Amino acid sequence: MPSVVLQAVGKQYRLDSVTVPALTDINLEIFPDRFTVISGPSGSGKTTLLNLIGCIDRPDHGTVEVAGQKVHLLSDDALSDFRARHIGFIFQNFNLLPVLTAYENVEYPLVLAKVPSSERRARVNQLLEAVGLSDRARNRPGQLSGGQRQRVAIARALAGRPALILADEPTANLDSHTGSAIIDLMRRLQREQHVSFVFSSHDPKVLDEADDAVRIQDGRIAAVERHSSATEVSV
Ligand SMILES: Nc1ncnc2c1ncn2[C@@H]1O[C@H](COP(=O)(O)OP(=O)(O)O)[C@@H](O)[C@H]1O
Ligand SMILES: [Mg+2]
Repeated sequence: MPSVVLQAVGKQYRLDSVTVPALTDINLEIFPDRFTVISGPSGSGKTTLLNLIGCIDRPDHGTVEVAGQKVHLLSDDALSDFRARHIGFIFQNFNLLPVLTAYENVEYPLVLAKVPSSERRARVNQLLEAVGLSDRARNRPGQLSGGQRQRVAIARALAGRPALILADEPTANLDSHTGSAIIDLMRRLQREQHVSFVFSSHDPKVLDEADDAVRIQDGRIAAVERHSSATEVSV
């Protein structure tokens, strides 16, 4: 069963009296335990699509189903609760809390979820080790490099064991060497943690890393390629 299903989804932005169509007639399935890459040029609709999948925004038309829940039907409160429980986010600009240490940033979603402290400690230490930052646990974001900040953000996204992790151009603010290392890390953690990972990029070379590759152009799906045959899938 797919973890995300979009049917006939449309989304427009209104700026003063002008309507900008951002997504048109999107039909898409995203499968569990796979690394899905959404590629397309700047302005093609990648962020809008991830915001709909991530329950940050709602479609104007069509239906969005995540982890079996028809999310377009939820109230705002129920939607943010659903988001906190099921979805982890990784952003282009890392979005770490500057006053918290690396450890505290990873711990933060677990505090909000009222996870007991001994369980939190074990999970945070395990994740900092998984992203290679055990020795930086007490550093604040300002004392870390861009690549290290993104590693903290990856650990934070995984902390609550979400079913789905969304990463919107997570390497756009990194040099290409650091960006490649971050992609490799996400690829490895996706396999180890068996999450469904959706990654957007305007860089065509990350497509090599994808199990499934979705190309969008002018707000429409231009192509879907399912690369590995581990799961039976349909477009
Ligand atoms: N908040 C907004 N208000 C108006 N137009 C927007 C807004 N966000 C995005 N757009 C427009 O929607 C289209 C898709 O944007 P976006 O999803 O950000 O694309 P991408 O992430 O691929 O660069 C673009 O034409 C963009 O200018
Ligand atoms: Mg974008």
